Amino acid sequence: MHSYTLRAPAKINLFLEILGSRPDGFHELVMILQSIALADELTIRANGTDKIRLTCSDANLPSDPSNLAYRAAQLMAQNFPQAYARFGGVDIALTKNIPMAAGLAGGSADAAAVLVGLDLLWQLGLTRPELENLAAQLGSDIPFCVGGGTAIATGRGEKLAPLPDVEGLWLVLAKHRSIEVSTPWAYQTYRQQFGAQYLNDRPAQQFRTQEIHASALVHAINHRNPEQIAQALYNDLEKVVLPHQTPVAELRQVLTKAGGLGTMMSGSGPTVFTLCRDQAEAAQVKAIAAQTLNNPDVDFWLTQTVGYGIQVIP
Ligand code: C5P
Repeated sequence: MHSYTLRAPAKINLFLEILGSRPDGFHELVMILQSIALADELTIRANGTDKIRLTCSDANLPSDPSNLAYRAAQLMAQNFPQAYARFGGVDIALTKNIPMAAGLAGGSADAAAVLVGLDLLWQLGLTRPELENLAAQLGSDIPFCVGGGTAIATGRGEKLAPLPDVEGLWLVLAKHRSIEVSTPWAYQTYRQQFGAQYLNDRPAQQFRTQEIHASALVHAINHRNPEQIAQALYNDLEKVVLPHQTPVAELRQVLTKAGGLGTMMSGSGPTVFTLCRDQAEAAQVKAIAAQTLNNPDVDFWLTQTVGYGIQVIP
């Protein structure tokens, strides 16, 4: 094969708790991550040169090394110089469907797809842990994006423990087109405001992590109980993003009132999601929220949870 087309699903956070600081300057987290059907698409093709080239359906997105997908290809070329010399450079064509700087790990999913695509194209036969190790060098959410599904992520977000897949739950996503949130800003602001409350010793962090492993949310996921999952949604970053971005707080309120099982901001936002009983309820929540807001700046998506990460599209 000289080319592969891959699907790169977005994720939502069913849970995000910031435990404390880490020696590397990042935060020690416990997250419960869930893949959703909203996905980007990438085609990776051997181009017969020694260059990595990236093109993107969205002209706002950089196609140089500041794009994570490009950096993923560079990382593979550095780590596997013999394969790079043998198979040569690649053209990566990226079709964006996941909004950017949205808390949905769109850029991370694209980078994960490049790792998986080059593993196939260069016939490397990497294992899942090997791919996740490379992914962790690029960003905290990228290891999860490789395998996707439902998982507890700890450490920086790169240490994964799988949970039973919660597939087929319908949800509404909503995001202001004009609002983007910088993830470093969200974490820095959180540190400024809540740093005094951090658990900074390892045993305390480990104890809290164990508590979350035994929490009502994990129990609800194990029993695939959407009502209980929705009641246990949680995200510490709401405490800094919602007061700073009042339209997002308003959007969250409108979605909550519009129905469904439960509403939460995903990751560092500003995307807000509502879990619903079924497709019809998701359509109704979207219709009511769109009518209440009457704001052309807000985009809505109806989507479902899925049990997969990067997939090859035949
Ligand atoms: O790893 P990633 O590039 O996604 O992280 C983006 C930023 O989010 C980091 O530069 C850091 O400011 C913040 N972050 C953090 N702790 C984490 C993950 C991310 O402080 N566990």
